[in-house]
Amino acid sequence: MHAPTRRAGAAIYLRYCRPCHGDGGRGLIGPNLTDRHQLHGTTRVDLLRTVRGGVPGKGMPPWSTILPHQDLVRIAAYAVSLRGTFAAGGKAPQGTPLPRAN
Ligand code: HEC
Repeated sequence: MHAPTRRAGAAIYLRYCRPCHGDGGRGLIGPNLTDRHQLHGTTRVDLLRTVRGGVPGKGMPPWSTILPHQDLVRIAAYAVSLRGTFAAGGKAPQGTPLPRAN
């Protein structure tokens, strides 16, 4: 995904996601987005689906009811770019190891 899209996603992240996913995605209330594990599926499409629909009963809001679709694409591109950056002080990995560079 191209850089302007990721940068726009980073700005959205600061406002809407950082309160629960921490600085640089290292995890806080929500899981660490910088490791190579994923709770809900393993693909980028799975990630976007989780952002869109949220996780009912687990505290992850359904962002498709809050932000326009284009912003969800931006934030998903940013979140995907965080994978494998292993932010310092990150929350322990949760879920399934990602099978490959996806
Ligand atoms: C109110 C807290 C909260 C906010 C705000 C929040 N999240 Fe989450 N998020 C969570 C929690 C809690 C989970 C884990 C749900 C579970 O245990 O299944 C989660 C899960 C996720 C996952 C799935 C991770 C995985 O391993 O499958 C992604 C991706 C994600 N959030 C991205 C985002 C993005 C992007 C935003 C901002 C648009 C955001 N979240 C805002 C709490 C939040």
